[in-house]
Amino acid sequence: MSTKPDFLNFSVDHMTLLLHPKLYTVAYAAFRIIFGVTPEDLLYEKRRSQPDGSEVSMTFANRIGEWQPKENDPLQTIIAVVQPSEPADQPSHVRDMLDGHESAAHWQHIALRTPDLIAFHAHASARGVQFITPILKDEEENLIQVFSGEWFFPGSKSSGMFFEFLQREPSDSELAEIQKANKQTWFRDETFLGLYGEKEREYRSGKVTPFIPDELFNSISEKIGSKQVWEISEDDINEIEQLMLDYGSKHQA
Ligand SMILES: [Fe+2]
Repeated sequence: MSTKPDFLNFSVDHMTLLLHPKLYTVAYAAFRIIFGVTPEDLLYEKRRSQPDGSEVSMTFANRIGEWQPKENDPLQTIIAVVQPSEPADQPSHVRDMLDGHESAAHWQHIALRTPDLIAFHAHASARGVQFITPILKDEEENLIQVFSGEWFFPGSKSSGMFFEFLQREPSDSELAEIQKANKQTWFRDETFLGLYGEKEREYRSGKVTPFIPDELFNSISEKIGSKQVWEISEDDINEIEQLMLDYGSKHQA
């Protein structure tokens, strides 16, 4: 067995996401609601003065979790790498994601680990968040996972950026619950290929599912209007959450 020095033991500390202004304040509100971010979890919010004397929000950081490591449950940090492996004359959503953004490198999805994926999935679905797969069971690793729609806004090009949510070591009763809900799609042979195939279908059809559906995105955007993130009050957040819940209850099966 090979060992490596301590200084090569990494944990992800934070991620930095660049967002188009049309996504920025909606993301602020949606993160508050979907990730349960409290005002104390807003680690910072910085502003930039404009030539006319007004201020524009420049950056904010949300703490979306704080795990205490448990014995026999190491919080691993993993980088998964993918290249377009289809022949040049064959379509490839991976190639599209890179070439479509004139990028040689692209962080495609962040996998966020939760201790209760079924509860998170219900919470997010009830608030209109769209997923492109049911909850899948990985056969090789003891984990369950689900993939969200991509982060972009109505009328914009899909960004190629989305979230995976996963839970490691699900219980037998949790597995049974998912199995009951999924019926046909249970136990895909390989969940990587399950996601891969789904993204390929989306990119070929030209219809990429957004994280927040267009109609809901527009109503959140309208509700926020021209407010900067620091002007979004707790009442606004509650009203936006109600918009999301109303949308969710209208559109959930
Ligand atoms: Fe993943």
